[in-house]
Amino acid sequence: MSTFGAIIAGTGSALPSKRLTNDDLAKMVDTNDEWITQRTGIKERRIAAEGETTGTLGLEAAKKALAAASLSPKDLDLIVCGTITPEMTFPSTGCFIARDLGLNDTPAFDVQAACSGFLFALDVGAQYVRSGRHRNVLVLGTETISRLTDYTDRGSCILFGDGAGAVVLQRCDDPDRGWIYGSLHADGNGSHMLYCPPGSRHPISKEMIEKRQQYMKINGREVYKFAVTRFEELITDAMVKCNLTADKVSMIIPHQVNQRIIDSAITKLGFPMEKVFVNIEKYGNTSSASVPIALDEAMRAGRIKHGDVLIFVAFGAGLTWANAVVRI
Ligand code: UT7
Repeated sequence: MSTFGAIIAGTGSALPSKRLTNDDLAKMVDTNDEWITQRTGIKERRIAAEGETTGTLGLEAAKKALAAASLSPKDLDLIVCGTITPEMTFPSTGCFIARDLGLNDTPAFDVQAACSGFLFALDVGAQYVRSGRHRNVLVLGTETISRLTDYTDRGSCILFGDGAGAVVLQRCDDPDRGWIYGSLHADGNGSHMLYCPPGSRHPISKEMIEKRQQYMKINGREVYKFAVTRFEELITDAMVKCNLTADKVSMIIPHQVNQRIIDSAITKLGFPMEKVFVNIEKYGNTSSASVPIALDEAMRAGRIKHGDVLIFVAFGAGLTWANAVVRI
């Protein structure tokens, strides 16, 4: 039992201004707006311009989250950054964001759990706050997935977009407020379903680039089945562990993976669709950024109020999957 709570004191998000529509993609690969809309719910996604990076998007989201929390960067005790598209292999993207916030002695590191990355980072941040070790922790999910996307592969390029979301977790005296529950999972046996080859196992070479192995590879069908099953399990787990019934849950914010995956899982659970926040039509799948962008949009649209109970769920490469329950 924790002495402290970890409330969400502020949220922020950042999206590149450049839009890539389904019609734009139809000029690049053999696809069309009707197929993409019906199979995924996506109409367009945002793509980082030259010079726009995981770090710059994360910085913008972080500044907005700090402003919403009425804090300045020096109030931060820790930065935890979820990403699979870091500024560089190293240093961590967290270090770049800390530097650009004007900090030179604040711990910052990255958490890599693909599309579940924000929930893993949030879990880490919440433990530091709830234990009493830190007062204000910045948690991010920030990505430029377009930089890993093969725009000749219609099976993957239609799905992804770029963006960033951030929250400031802040210590409070009520352990039943803020982040109250989370579960994290990983199974590397599913690593072949969704992966990006460059690394120690596949050092970058001319041959690799000729074979387009620098880009992410995805087995959409397999991931689809995995995501529907895990989605249901994660929502059920959150409700059972927190003793919640559907009427006590104000909103589910899922990873924006595919409208059909969300619809299928929510229908099976018998949960009212109007309580599920979906913005996939505008941004596609932004990996670790999808949950915090959706949270920030829901906050700024006035759809979340004091006392609301939110459930977050996400799943992705690893395989990884995670949930969290937050009382606002
Ligand atoms: O966050 C985790 C990462 N996200 C994911 O991994 C996504 C999860 N998977 C999905 O969202 C879906 O599986 C997709 C949207 C990727 C694919 O939808 P699907 O209903 O599973 O389609 P499919 O892969 O079974 O393909 C059906 C047909 C195939 O043609 P044939 O073999 O039936 O003739 C594909 O070649 O659709 C074809 N196809 C396309 N056609 C037009 C595949 N991609 C496209 C495309 N445009 N972009």
